[in-house]
Amino acid sequence: MERSAAVITLSDRAYSGERKDASGPAICEYLSARGWKIEYAHVIDDDEKKLRAELLEAADERGVDLVITTGGTGLAPRDITPETTLSVANRLVPGIAEAIRAESMKITKHAMLSRGVAVIRKRTLIINLPGSPKACTESLDVIIEALPHAIGIMRGEKLDK
Ligand code: MTE
Repeated sequence: MERSAAVITLSDRAYSGERKDASGPAICEYLSARGWKIEYAHVIDDDEKKLRAELLEAADERGVDLVITTGGTGLAPRDITPETTLSVANRLVPGIAEAIRAESMKITKHAMLSRGVAVIRKRTLIINLPGSPKACTESLDVIIEALPHAIGIMRGEKLDK
């Protein structure tokens, strides 16, 4: 079954036009190449209210299967992605973020500095990835295989184990 995804880039500099967003397109390309339908990709600044509105639109209005956010997971004062994501969560899926950090630690020790979370809101799985395109594709490599199964279970579909 074709699964749908929305991609949200959080970056003050990409939003202001100071630099081009490379991470959103990298995620879109990665997922499209694996059969996912990209519903839309938005770029916002590191703004709690805007991210919250984006997540509610994706989960409550559009009902996409998957939302991938990129950026704003670190320790900088304006990194608000994990807290905002948690604020819309119905349930937590800690294993996804744990797996991303554990595998990414084999690539760079800086992986411990991403505070990204994975949660469910309604029938949408929301996953925070770090900001760089490299970190995004490395993280997706870790989780991509498990995502269709995760979404099938989340949506209460009958699946072959
Ligand atoms: N994870 C992977 N797989 N590869 C990376 O290069 N970069 C790290 C980390 N996670 C990285 C990674 C770095 S340098 C930081 S600061 C944190 O993610 C947070 O990134 P963010 O603030 O852009 O979200």
